[in-house]
Amino acid sequence: MAISSLCLFLLFSLFLGQGVVELEASHHVYQNLQTSESTSESQPYRTGYHFQPPKNWMNDPNGPMIYKGIYHLFYQYNPKGAVWGNIVWAHSTSTDLINWTPHDAAIYPSQKSDINGCWSGSATILPGGKPAMLYTGIDPNNTQVQNLAVPKNLSDPHLIEWVKSPTNPLMAPTAMNQINVSSFRDPTTAWLGPDKKWRVIIGSKINHKGLAILYTSKNFVKWTQAKHPLHSAEGTGMWECPDFFPVATRGVYGVETSKLGSSIKHVLKVSLDDTKHEYYTIGTYNIFTDKYVPDKGQVDSDSGLRYDYGKFYASKTFFDILTQRRILWGWINESSSVEHDIKKGWSGVQAIPRNIWLDKSGKQLIQWPIVEIEKLRVNQVKLPSKFLKAGSVVEVKGVTASQADIEASFKIPGFEKAEVLDPSWTNPQLLCSQKGASVKGALGPFGFLVLSSKSLEEYTAVFFRIFKGHGKYVVLMCSDQSRSSLDADNDKTTYGAFVDVDPVHESLSLRSLIDHSIVESFGGGGKACITARVYPTLAIDHEAHLYAFNYGTEKINLTNLSAWSLKKAQIS
Ligand SMILES: *[C@@H]1O[C@H](CO)[C@@H](O)[C@H](O)[C@H]1NC(C)=O
Ligand SMILES: *[C@@H]1O[C@H](CO)[C@@H](O)[C@H](O)[C@H]1NC(C)=O
Ligand SMILES: *[C@@H]1O[C@H](CO)[C@@H](O)[C@H](O)[C@H]1NC(C)=O
Ligand SMILES: *[C@@H]1O[C@H](CO)[C@@H](O)[C@H](O)[C@H]1NC(C)=O
Ligand SMILES: *[C@@H]1O[C@H](CO)[C@@H](O)[C@H](O)[C@H]1NC(C)=O
Ligand SMILES: *[C@@H]1O[C@H](CO)[C@@H](O)[C@H](O)[C@H]1NC(C)=O
Repeated sequence: MAISSLCLFLLFSLFLGQGVVELEASHHVYQNLQTSESTSESQPYRTGYHFQPPKNWMNDPNGPMIYKGIYHLFYQYNPKGAVWGNIVWAHSTSTDLINWTPHDAAIYPSQKSDINGCWSGSATILPGGKPAMLYTGIDPNNTQVQNLAVPKNLSDPHLIEWVKSPTNPLMAPTAMNQINVSSFRDPTTAWLGPDKKWRVIIGSKINHKGLAILYTSKNFVKWTQAKHPLHSAEGTGMWECPDFFPVATRGVYGVETSKLGSSIKHVLKVSLDDTKHEYYTIGTYNIFTDKYVPDKGQVDSDSGLRYDYGKFYASKTFFDILTQRRILWGWINESSSVEHDIKKGWSGVQAIPRNIWLDKSGKQLIQWPIVEIEKLRVNQVKLPSKFLKAGSVVEVKGVTASQADIEASFKIPGFEKAEVLDPSWTNPQLLCSQKGASVKGALGPFGFLVLSSKSLEEYTAVFFRIFKGHGKYVVLMCSDQSRSSLDADNDKTTYGAFVDVDPVHESLSLRSLIDHSIVESFGGGGKACITARVYPTLAIDHEAHLYAFNYGTEKINLTNLSAWSLKKAQIS
């Protein structure tokens, strides 16, 4: 993902009162602020087990893969400051996706075809197990082009050094193809057809239509643009960081990216530059026509299915051949001001990698934090099953509430009093902001108050409400940040999602991963996920508390609550 028109700098600099240039793509460029200030102040918002570099700006995950049993994560990084700029591919490796060893930047500007930036891209494992990176380079004309880099030494499992193809760029906008020079980026992992041709898609747009431009190649070096895109959707704007992969119709195992067949569906995910949301559809891919068609009922727009209904962007999956999982990485942006980011000296974290698979319904994906995170669990606390009466708040004691994992199930003794869902309440985020945690209902709000101060001056509320809909009960999941911090200078947007569970026959589960300034929540066993960034001023470190609550008028059964402190991971 990213930006364009850096060439306009000279022009813009005449008007640079604040040193801030607003560009049409994703990021502001803060020209005067590109040096890092190392701060000796305490760092209450750094995370204990989420991936982040020791300092500076990080955005998209790039080229995640496993090679010779070692996991690799590359990411968009500014070596010179806590704001976007000077982008290189930073690199870390791991044997468990939780503890990481940092290495030198793997890909950085060195050729004409990437001299103004090495932007996002993906790994493809070529026959013989050789990794290849396709990535977007910004050339001397600030045109977005696609380049190839391969490891220098395949005997080195850490793949420290990378060499670029001398024939870069391999794909570029021309007068012939009419591709927009500032809207052509983020190649996916390529897949191989039975015709021995590789295929890859690149995010783009024409006017306001989002496009997944398709290229094919016999040798991975010479690429030809296909006559039509793999897919497009009117009204969605620029598609950043597309991801296209197969999922098995049954079971939780992932499948290799080139896999085809009758027990396979495909997923297309795009990141919308206009809204900073991602959405995905499930559909059918025809390798002969090279067209992807979303299934009937799948919503191909910003109001479609999302991996995460909070902060989560520029995500990318990879197939882990070791454990046969498909694993999702995503960037979690700050919600604090740029001034605050500069003061703390860093910006951006990666979400805990999620295992993803197709739900039994075939209509959505399920996401669950990778099992390796459970290695960090200590001090399990269990609460016996109990009724949460109207207005009750129950403290979960005995865990480090600023760095914790909490899971519980809720059972609903009776549905008679359920509030009726107004047919106009179709936007879950809006509904959650109108009915925040402090608004009493009948069935709900009930859930967790996390990163709470002792007397609840500050808290982030993650909760459910149940409504009576047309012939079924509708479950709403919310993450309400409005009381998360006494500091007014943060984005405290409330997030929401409908969760496709039947609360009459299924218990309703909720899990939250809490890590100082991040709350990643999974509702309905991973059917809806919401990630929030929060910056408490009181609920810091050992001053943070954790509660289960029910502010509805009807009692709810809280069952099977377990919480753990999570140890610090070794990351930098
Ligand atoms: C940049 O644009 C100029 C003028 O259109 C062109 O001559 C030159 O080849 C371009 N440079 C690259 C690296 O594409
Ligand atoms: C390649 O990597 C292996 C394993 O790290 C190392 O022993 C070898 O010296 C490297 N070769 C070169 C040419 O750097
Ligand atoms: C190309 O993309 C840029 C960046 O989004 C946009 O400003 C411009 O209008 C686009 N040009 C065309 C011809 O669509
Ligand atoms: C990052 O967060 C800021 C502040 O909340 C927001 O304005 C911006 O759109 C976000 N960007 C992305 C990619 O989420
Ligand atoms: C609800 O909790 C009560 C009290 O702990 C327990 O006796 C009852 O069996 C529970 N009911 C359900 C449906 O879980
Ligand atoms: C209760 O929670 C534990 C740990 O979260 C889980 O392993 C177990 O399957 C749960 N049991 C039920 C009946 O939900």
